[in-house]
Amino acid sequence: MSHLIFTDSFINGEFYSTASHFDIIDPATEQSITSVSDIDQAGVKQAINAAHGAFIKLKSSNATTRSNVLMRWFELVMQHKQALAELMTKEQGKPLKEALGEVEYGAGFIKWYAEQAKRSYGDVIPATDDNHRLTSFKQPIGVVAGITPWNFPVAMVTRKVAPAYAAGCSFVLKPSEHTPLCALALAYLADQAGFEKGAFNVLVSENAKMVGELLTKSEVVRKFTFTGSTGVGKQLLAQCAPSIKRTSMELGGNAPFIIFANADLDEAVSGLMGAKFRNGGQTCVAANRIFVQRSVLDKVLEKLAEKVAALKVANGLAKDCDIGPLIYPQAKQKVQQLVADAITKGAKRVGVSAELSGNYYAPVILTGVTAEMDIYHQEVFGPVASIIAFDDEAEVLAMANDVPFGLAAYFYSQDIKQIYRVSEALEYGMVGINEGLISNPVAPFGGVKQSGLGREGGHQGLDEYLEEKYVCMKV
Ligand code: SIN
Repeated sequence: MSHLIFTDSFINGEFYSTASHFDIIDPATEQSITSVSDIDQAGVKQAINAAHGAFIKLKSSNATTRSNVLMRWFELVMQHKQALAELMTKEQGKPLKEALGEVEYGAGFIKWYAEQAKRSYGDVIPATDDNHRLTSFKQPIGVVAGITPWNFPVAMVTRKVAPAYAAGCSFVLKPSEHTPLCALALAYLADQAGFEKGAFNVLVSENAKMVGELLTKSEVVRKFTFTGSTGVGKQLLAQCAPSIKRTSMELGGNAPFIIFANADLDEAVSGLMGAKFRNGGQTCVAANRIFVQRSVLDKVLEKLAEKVAALKVANGLAKDCDIGPLIYPQAKQKVQQLVADAITKGAKRVGVSAELSGNYYAPVILTGVTAEMDIYHQEVFGPVASIIAFDDEAEVLAMANDVPFGLAAYFYSQDIKQIYRVSEALEYGMVGINEGLISNPVAPFGGVKQSGLGREGGHQGLDEYLEEKYVCMKV
C-alpha cells in the first residue's frame, strides 16, 4: 500500500509541500495514518495557473488521444485496485469489500468517459434559406475546479475528472480534508498514464473556506463542480454567481424507500439492506425514510431485524466486516442526537443495539417515526433504519415528495400499473424499482429540487464540461 501514499498537494505534475501540516485520521483506530501538508494561497493560485496552461494544450488536443490516456489511467487504477481499496478503508473506514467495489465503480467512470470522449458530436442544422449553412459543435468549457466529499474518495473524483478530461478541460480538485490520500494516488496514476502537466491538480487543505473562495472567485475557472451538503452547495453557488460560472451540484438527499404490500418482501428487505447500510448509511442516496404498507409491516420488521442482527460492525480491514466506523466523532454524535430526539418523540427501537466505543455505531431500527422528528427531515448519514407505516399509495406519495430534496427514491411493487404511476409521481432525479443499488457510470446521476443541478455519469456527464458553439455561415 505504501507506494501509493503521498502527503503533499499535486500541482503541475509535481508534489508541492508547505510548512503547515495536519493529520489524516483512520476513523477505525482514531490514530494518524500520516501527516499531510496544508496548501497555502500561493499554491492554490499556482494550481489555477497550471490548469490554465494545461487547458491551452488540451483544447487543441484530439479526442482519440485523450481517450487513450484515459484508458491507460483506467488500467493503472485497476492494476492498483487492492492498494487503493486498502488506502480507502484506512482513511474513510468503509469495509474493504465495499472499497474494492468502489475502486471498480470509480474506474468504471474513467473507462466510460474514455469511450465517450470520442462521441461529443455536434449538429448539422437544416438551413432556413439557400444562402446559409448552420452547424453547431462542442468545445471544452475551460479550467474546472471541484470539491469532492469523504464518503466516496475514489468514485466522486473520477466521476468529475474523467469527463472533464474527456471533454478537453483541465482540473483543480480539492478533495475532502478527511480523505485526500486516495485523490493524491489517483492524480499520481493519472500523471503516469500521460495526463498533461497541470491537467489534474490536487489541493490538500483543512482550510476549505480559503481554497473554495479562491477557486470560486477566479475568472480563469469557468466551471465549478461540487458534491456535498446542500448548505455548502448554496454558499458555493452564490460565490460562483459574480463570475457566472457553469456549475454542477450533487447535494443532499432524503431518500424514501417504499415497500408496497404486493412486493416480494424478501427482495425488498435485501434491497433495503444495500440502500440503507452501504458505507454504514453514509451515502447521499441512502434510504432515509422507509415507508412500509401497514398490512406487511410486521413481516418486514421480522425479516429486517434478522438481517440487521447479523451485520458485523468492525474495522473495515477485518474479514467479514459489514459496517465500519463512522467518519469522525461529530458524525456519531449527530446520529446519536437524531435517534435520541426520535425516541423522546415516541419512536421505538427494535431490539437492543450495543453501545460501541470510538466512531463505531451499531445499526438501529426505529419504528413509529413521524414528521415531528428531526430524523424524518435530515439526512441521517448513519446506520439507522427509520420505519414509517402507511395505508395507501396516495398517502405515501404525498409523504415521499413532501421534502425539499429530490435525489434518489426506491420502491418495491409487483403491480405494473402501480410501477408506472409511482415512478412518474416521485419527484426525484433517480428511482430504483425493485432495486436498492442504482449507481452506475453509464447512467445519469443527479437530483432535483435542493438535491442539486446537473448530472454525472452517462452521456449527460460529458456535456457538463462542454459548451455548444453555433456557427452560421453565409454561402
Ligand atoms: C453519494 O453518496 O454522493 C454517491 C453515491 C453513489 O455514487 O452511489
